[in-house]
Amino acid sequence: MKVYHLSAECYPVAKVGGLADVVGALPKYQNQAGLQAAVIMPFYNRRFVHENLFEMVFQGTTLLGTRRIYFEILKEQTNKLGFELYLIKIPGLLDRENIYSYPDELDQFMAFQLCFLDWINWSGQTPDIVHCHDHHTGLVPFLMYHSNLYKRLAHIPTIFTIHNGQYHGAFGWDRLGLLPEIDFYKTGLLDWNGGINPLASAVKCCWRYTTVSPSYLHELSISSNGLEYLFYIERQKGGGILNGIDTDVWDPSTDPMLPVHFKSATAGKGKQQNKQLLCERFGLSTTRPLIAFIGRLVTEKGADLLPAAVERSIKEHGDKVNFLILGAGDSPTEMSLNLLKQLYPYNCNVFLGYDEALAHLIYAGADFLLMPSRVEPCGLNQMYAMRYGTVPIVRSTGGLRDTVIDFGEENGYGIRFEQVSVDDICVSVTRAVLLYQDSKNMQLLRKRMMGLDFSWERSADEYIHLYQSLIS
Ligand code: ADP
Ligand code: GLC
Repeated sequence: MKVYHLSAECYPVAKVGGLADVVGALPKYQNQAGLQAAVIMPFYNRRFVHENLFEMVFQGTTLLGTRRIYFEILKEQTNKLGFELYLIKIPGLLDRENIYSYPDELDQFMAFQLCFLDWINWSGQTPDIVHCHDHHTGLVPFLMYHSNLYKRLAHIPTIFTIHNGQYHGAFGWDRLGLLPEIDFYKTGLLDWNGGINPLASAVKCCWRYTTVSPSYLHELSISSNGLEYLFYIERQKGGGILNGIDTDVWDPSTDPMLPVHFKSATAGKGKQQNKQLLCERFGLSTTRPLIAFIGRLVTEKGADLLPAAVERSIKEHGDKVNFLILGAGDSPTEMSLNLLKQLYPYNCNVFLGYDEALAHLIYAGADFLLMPSRVEPCGLNQMYAMRYGTVPIVRSTGGLRDTVIDFGEENGYGIRFEQVSVDDICVSVTRAVLLYQDSKNMQLLRKRMMGLDFSWERSADEYIHLYQSLIS
């Protein structure tokens, strides 16, 4: 079974968040299960493309509105990622360093989708499944089934996976000319709320859509930035499949980014040694519990509440707590965090920016990982944390609800709270501080968490069953 995954991100080629981790792992595990899964993504001018060898396997042109655009398909030569990787390169459009936030982002991802379709159409390829991820690839199902140009592809099943339903990629009808010719009566399949909405269109046109956790599937019909009714009426097409984590990359006993390796049996000592290095680097104390946050500093992640929650917790617990924050995002939050670091240099430090190796060290060296998310379709951080023996403190939503059981419940191991509020975060921090003092219990929870199985095998199988159900 030949499956093409289409995505804007893929680890280690180009990553902003969890989408990259998923697309960099799922195809590998699908291949191990006997599929032929490949990833197709835009070309970015980043380290990975300079350090690896690529072969041009196709060149062509596509029409973006009135602009004829030349593109190349580059194939990574060694399959070192565990799957075939194809990059779509367009000089001046898909050959830049960053993934998002260019003023012509619409042209960028529209061209990406059109070049993909032109390539498989004109080179005579017929994948068994086209698997699209998030709104950057959301127009592909519509184009395959309803554009006159790609009729040859109209019988191929498409799956659409929603990693984040808050972002839709919507744009105005004045840009309809960017799409190839379509019958006018079909334009309703592109529309939501008076605009062209790629996420809505994908949900309407794909054969099946999935969310990255079962809870998030239900939440979308309650809160999805205006698409609630759509998710309600299309619910029969939807399914929730929990993400896995790449246990080859995220393994504390082999992780090349860790100074000290450890397993469940040696976690007490191993984690303490990593914590020591981390605390020395950030001027924090090794004897206090270290509570960390890693992620985008945006309201979706509840990051705006961190400054107030951290300050109140430091005032309440004084020298009984340490915080370390790694992330980048909204400027007011970044500024407040910087101020906090100056006010409480012995209790709190902040690294503003993106640093993959530091993230690994924090998962290994911290005692707790705080995730006060307003929205969390799945969340990978809590799963990485647990694999590295770090107790997650999470708001009960989406994938966090599906992966973390509070330690107050039977066989629980984490800390869960209900409301996105400074009060709830502070109560949870107090629970963490008390838990930390009970070293026997900490040891027990660590063992329990590190024994959990969040590997991709199970989820990769669920996707395979879904594909099979569509092909037969
Ligand atoms: P999202 O994709 O919504 O940002 P996820 O929990 O799915 O959230 O995935 C986030 C991924 O990005 C994890 O691999 C996490 O370690 C990583 N990450 C987020 N922010 C940073 C950062 N500032 N530095 C390093 N890694 C980060
Ligand atoms: C999105 C979500 C996150 C999820 C990731 C991978 O970025 O915000 O919760 O883990 O995609 O599916």
